[in-house]
Amino acid sequence: MKVAVVGATGLVGTVMLKVLEERNFPITELIPVASERSIGKKISYKGQEFSVVGLASAVEMKPDVALFSAGGSTSLEWAPKFAEAGITVIDNSSAWRMDPTKKLVVPEINAKDLTANDKIIANPNCSTIQLVMALAPLQDKYKIKRAIISTYQSITGTGVKAVQQLENEYAGEKGEMAYPYPIHRNAIPHCDVFQENGYTKEEMKLVNETQKILDDRSIAVTATAIRIPVVGGHSESVNLEFENEFDESEVRKILNDTPGVTVQDNPETNTYPMPIYAEGKNDVFVGRIRRDHSRENALNMWIVADNLRKGAATNAVQIGEYLAANKLIG
Ligand SMILES: NC(=O)c1ccc[n+]([C@@H]2O[C@H](COP(=O)([O-])OP(=O)(O)OC[C@H]3O[C@@H](n4cnc5c(N)ncnc54)[C@H](OP(=O)(O)O)[C@@H]3O)[C@@H](O)[C@H]2O)c1
Repeated sequence: MKVAVVGATGLVGTVMLKVLEERNFPITELIPVASERSIGKKISYKGQEFSVVGLASAVEMKPDVALFSAGGSTSLEWAPKFAEAGITVIDNSSAWRMDPTKKLVVPEINAKDLTANDKIIANPNCSTIQLVMALAPLQDKYKIKRAIISTYQSITGTGVKAVQQLENEYAGEKGEMAYPYPIHRNAIPHCDVFQENGYTKEEMKLVNETQKILDDRSIAVTATAIRIPVVGGHSESVNLEFENEFDESEVRKILNDTPGVTVQDNPETNTYPMPIYAEGKNDVFVGRIRRDHSRENALNMWIVADNLRKGAATNAVQIGEYLAANKLIG
């Protein structure tokens, strides 16, 4: 298959290339794409060098599939042009996620809804993907009434500029700021832009995308998203209230049996998920599973995943694998 990686020079794009290589995605021709600034730059894939091209050239080269991670405005403008040329776009930005005509896909949950007519497929937000991976099997069994989420998000979720800001601050040097405040030795309760309702866009993504993926608008979701000076992945403290009674050991078993989820939960051995161990892994890790004694049918848990992997690149590549395996592309 001819595969274009749009945003190949960025944080997500770089991991995308790594994941495509690791999973041996059936690529006959790779087309790395980035902004005008990067045209001609060399990208290496499976020991071979490829030159970065611009978006217009990429459309002319007619790839079978284009994996987009180049920001919302690039996706809004260019995804339809790729789609019109018959190229299937898997988009990592927030541009199409809440469009009712576009599918928002976490393969383990809803890839079966995809058809060959889906030419622009939305990859959910990183913090949403790891959340719904743990919520979906519990929703099936106990029906979720309400979810309260607090996130502790990696700076890698903000792209190369944020990584540079933290490195500058470590080194005591001045430089371009990705955040309105220093991030080193700080916690910033502000991920993405503020909205009129007082929540940030990141917080509202957790609300709206969760309801769309689980196909249940009746689930009450509320979120607070915090940026912390961590690089390995996002962490989430999640409180769930179920419609039905549950058993803690059964919850552990259900999560353990869920493909793509690993339970790490043993207080006796100080076993729980942490971003330094989630980094570079494709799974979503769940721990600190315990009953919330302050409320009926309520549960607390802690969810960690590498936001650049399952939160972005791995999920997008899995969508591509599903499309290829079911002959929906290529
Ligand atoms: N980081 C995450 O955890 C995460 C998770 C899920 C989704 N996403 C989404 O993925 C996208 C990229 O995130 P990132 O963290 O990888 O950002 P990043 O490190 O800043 O990389 C941005 C990439 O987009 C390219 N780009 C920027 N403007 C472009 C344009 N006008 N035309 C073509 N290419 C352009 C850049 O190319 P140059 O190098 O040439 O500038 C670069 O390759 C964003 O939409 C983000 O919301 C990120």
